[in-house]
Amino acid sequence: SESQLIDRFGRRVTYVRISVTDRCDFRCVYCMSEDMQFLPKAQILTLEELATLGRAFTELGVGKIRITGGEPLVRSNVMGLFEELGQLPGLRELVMTTNGSQLTRYADDLRRAGVRRLNISLDSLDPDRFHRITRTGKLDKVLDGIEAAREAGFEGIKINTVAMKNRNDDEIIDLVDYVVERGLDISFIEEMPLGEIDDHDRAEVYMSSDEVRERIATRYELVPTTVSTGGPSRYFKVSGTGSKVGFISPHSHNFCESCNRVRVTTEGRLLLCLGQEHSMDLRRVLRANPGELEPLKQAIRDSMAIKPKGHDFNLGAKPVIMRHMNMTGG
Ligand code: GTP
Ligand code: 5AD
Ligand code: SF4
Repeated sequence: SESQLIDRFGRRVTYVRISVTDRCDFRCVYCMSEDMQFLPKAQILTLEELATLGRAFTELGVGKIRITGGEPLVRSNVMGLFEELGQLPGLRELVMTTNGSQLTRYADDLRRAGVRRLNISLDSLDPDRFHRITRTGKLDKVLDGIEAAREAGFEGIKINTVAMKNRNDDEIIDLVDYVVERGLDISFIEEMPLGEIDDHDRAEVYMSSDEVRERIATRYELVPTTVSTGGPSRYFKVSGTGSKVGFISPHSHNFCESCNRVRVTTEGRLLLCLGQEHSMDLRRVLRANPGELEPLKQAIRDSMAIKPKGHDFNLGAKPVIMRHMNMTGG
């Protein structure tokens, strides 16, 4: 069924990203501070509330749910939520974004629950460097997780790489080799300024998608496509291979005009744009009307009136948005 959610600019919302935890076993430098404080449990949505949300969105005709975090798989009993969402009539696509650290354990269960595709973050193939970027992550664990996901038979696995000058830009070709050898896809992401992070200067490491593309073009032929997964990535086919390379370029190629998504934070704030604070408090609605769908659906419909035109990201000294990425899962 077609989505009932249309904003003031005529954009139809067909995709919701739901963050199920702000916690994570990693502390990636572009995402969190080293001493990140996490939310007390009472403030985050319960698994029942999350399932109710999923139901409300699909009843409104939203066909795609992406589960994000933090790291979704560190939330206890999260597999029950996947199983419940996987059964929702009207849901076309249940997908997840993960750091890959728990996939050796959960890949099969996720696939069985109906998760169709996974996006897995991977910024380096060098163990020391990987540890420097994630601050706590173990590369081996993630590479094993990616193998487990391949064996579990997902319809698609996409690697996400935040491209950073002098941090991982010399590994761009290696990362493309890695996905090409395995028949996976990869997206290179321009870092977004969300939340302040000590010792990490976003302007200093900024690398545009065009620079990344030029780097790849020294080795591979990239053929433009019109393929879309419903997200902001612009995809190119890697000629002579089964892989695609995508570019997510909030700075250099603004994609807000075709925005089709909203996101729900761990606390149940419906955020109408990643780069703005316009939001609707769905937790309040959920808790005032336990188990009821209609008030929730009405609040979601009403929110369309406040979806902003786009973000105002810039790489100035202070980020405009003080909320860190782990609240929204990107
Ligand atoms: P699919 O297209 O479904 O594969 O997902 P995706 O690539 O949009 O999702 P993923 O969770 O893998 O996110 C990759 C990057 O895209 C992250 O850095 C997100 O923050 C970014 N992203 C996703 N949606 C938006 C958006 O609406 N605005 C901005 N600025 N960035 C977004
Ligand atoms: N800018 C861009 N991408 C980010 N991610 C996390 N923080 C940022 C940021 N500040 C990425 C992660 C993950 C995806 C959900 O978002 O690497 O792949
Ligand atoms: Fe965790 Fe993902 Fe943030 Fe890294 S980017 S700290 S893996 S939530």
